[in-house]
Amino acid sequence: MDSVFRSTEVMTIERFIMDQERLHPEATGELSNLLYDVCLAAKIISRQVRRAGLSDILGAMDTINIQGELQQKLDVFANDTVRNCVQHTGRICVMASEEEEDVLHIPDNYPTGKYVLLYDPLDGSSNIDANVTIGTIFSIYRRITRSGKGTVQDCLQPGYKQIGAGYCIYGSSTMLVYTTGDGVHGFTFDPSIGEFLLSHENIRIPKQGKIYSVNEGNYRWWYDGVKKYVKYLQEEDKATNRPYSGRYVGSMVADVHRTLLYGGIFMYPGDTRQHDGKLRLMYEANPTAFIIEQAGGRSSNGTQRILDIQPKALHQRTPLFIGSDHDVEIVEEFIQGKRDLTPKGDNEQRTSH
Ligand code: F6P
Repeated sequence: MDSVFRSTEVMTIERFIMDQERLHPEATGELSNLLYDVCLAAKIISRQVRRAGLSDILGAMDTINIQGELQQKLDVFANDTVRNCVQHTGRICVMASEEEEDVLHIPDNYPTGKYVLLYDPLDGSSNIDANVTIGTIFSIYRRITRSGKGTVQDCLQPGYKQIGAGYCIYGSSTMLVYTTGDGVHGFTFDPSIGEFLLSHENIRIPKQGKIYSVNEGNYRWWYDGVKKYVKYLQEEDKATNRPYSGRYVGSMVADVHRTLLYGGIFMYPGDTRQHDGKLRLMYEANPTAFIIEQAGGRSSNGTQRILDIQPKALHQRTPLFIGSDHDVEIVEEFIQGKRDLTPKGDNEQRTSH
């Protein structure tokens, strides 16, 4: 029997968000409504992703996006869907999308509100044609301009100012994971009733994992600290749970989701070709860093907490090391030259873990 019929009481995401809102008597309900808007967008995108093979939507369009990548048809669909689900509501003053060069202003015929939405409409889209997991990532801030249409300044806030962040992952099932600063909660989409149902309440990332996730094809271009760290993970040492296993989907949202649930580390380092790596601070690093920290993990660019980085440009990139607290701390030590590959046993004497 379908699980939803076993009990008459189900926790939909709407009910959960409403319950969370009650913990904050000062809340006006607008943030909750903005989250519902994003959920609606996620449902529409999920439906389209599931139909991808059938509806002749796979494959590339002829346009090149701001990152210089060939845009996929589903990218364009997802980008428009998020915008169309939120821009008319009067809850936001400006948006920015990974797929658009400039901020997205609210059209003149709609009211503006107090929130700012940044989003990556379809992360990992190079994987679409192979039927591999992709996702939508979002990040919510309070506006800093006073009124009217928002500006790029509203978007260029450091990650610690986020008041909400989440992602929807289109995998073997569709899941939405979000935080508003009161822990991290996961919901699985039940297509038979069209609702996200609470499946993972208060997710906590293990303090240390056993999996590392990185595009090792870039090894020759990495800086020494990262090279040594990966070698360290591959060494055998029972006391520190090494060697680690390698897993790399190539869709950040999927790799981060696995890391959140199983622990370990996901990284996209800077290297001698791309000093700041590949991933975008505002659309990928900040929202996932907020989630991972809320779950008890850690995120860093190697020398600084991701959420403390003051952004200078909408599409700026950052090296990213994210995951279990212990694992990210160790890679920071390698990058900062506080740790080196040493004969077995020595490494552990240098940390308090
Ligand atoms: O930024 C887009 C993205 O597809 C991420 O989702 C993913 O982690 C990364 O790029 C993969 O990049 P690469 O193909 O260089 O490993």
